[in-house]
Amino acid sequence: MNPIPNQKFNFFPVATDIHFGFGVLQTLPARVKSAGGQSAFLVTDPGLRAAGILDQIVGLLRTNSVSVTVCDGVVPDSGSNLIDRTAAELKKAGSAVVIGVGGGSSLDTAKAIGALATNPGSCLDYVGLHNVRNKSLPVIAIPTTAGTGSEVSLWSVFTDEGKSIKTAIGSFLIYPSIALCDPELTFNLPPHLTASTGMDALGHAIECYTNNACQPISAALALRAVELIGCHLRGAVLNGRDPQSRYGMMLASTMAGIAMNPTRLGLAHALAMPLGSWTLRVPHGIAVAVTLPVVMEFNHLAEPGRFADVAQALGCRVDHLGRLDAAKRSVEAVRNLARDIGIPDSLSSYGLREEHVRPVVDEAIKSGNVTVNPRRTTSEDLEQILRRLL
Ligand SMILES: [Fe+2]
Repeated sequence: MNPIPNQKFNFFPVATDIHFGFGVLQTLPARVKSAGGQSAFLVTDPGLRAAGILDQIVGLLRTNSVSVTVCDGVVPDSGSNLIDRTAAELKKAGSAVVIGVGGGSSLDTAKAIGALATNPGSCLDYVGLHNVRNKSLPVIAIPTTAGTGSEVSLWSVFTDEGKSIKTAIGSFLIYPSIALCDPELTFNLPPHLTASTGMDALGHAIECYTNNACQPISAALALRAVELIGCHLRGAVLNGRDPQSRYGMMLASTMAGIAMNPTRLGLAHALAMPLGSWTLRVPHGIAVAVTLPVVMEFNHLAEPGRFADVAQALGCRVDHLGRLDAAKRSVEAVRNLARDIGIPDSLSSYGLREEHVRPVVDEAIKSGNVTVNPRRTTSEDLEQILRRLL
């Protein structure tokens, strides 16, 4: 992207101490102690226990004299009641540090309960941007997918159980204190989850790079993330134990996560929130993965230069093409990548029907991700996009 000479912009650095690479998990006990405690409250989902990762981490902590209370009850798209209940357990345990291990739901739950340890009331009291008043308890985020970027994000996304809609808390005060990004933890992630979470990271990178709020610093991170995902997502899905692919994907996910904090995203994420509500429960990565190529088709003519950059980052030769044709190649490249890794091209098997279109659009159009989308968007546009996914 050529910088726009008169662009004024804001980029805020991530308030998270990031440790990245194979083996960084081993430093966890020392990190807990440096974050201020000998006692930790660990939040995860039952899948991590089944995969043996939970036992490994608990053993590591106890061997190094860190006491740990485990809550492994996180479910996809954690509900507000679960978060409030878990926050009460944290208070009872009196732990000094929260550890979140897992995908986005576990990390977002850890961030929300960390905030509730120092702020009174329910998580629903802090929905929106900058409503949290006191700095969260120290949270150590350990992602096991690549992914959501939650380990470096100011957002905690969860489901408002009363309204059955997805909602979020956003605050500088809920950044994880420490992120331990160890690609080894993704070796046993099944191919379908590697595919959908990897496409979520691609959605973060592309929507960040092409939207109206993007600026040169986020753009540099986001475009490099697109390039890494183009190089490594197929390998990570098809050969999960390939270290280079897993390293590349985790790096891309973290870079995209940093990039998107100041920019927000676009229509794929605006639609993914209501699609992931408890009415439909389409997994977030799938919602983004299936929606992204259709959204790009809608958007690419509004910012052809940037979509041409995306095509190039994904390995397309575009130097002999005009800008519009080059931009179109980005749509084809994402569609081909999705197909190669087994992403469906509709959401019908996830239960999306015509009767859902209007309610999903009514919710999506309120999103801040619509405001920054590169092409001006009406409810009718969103309806047309969704109907392509039936
Ligand atoms: Fe996402």
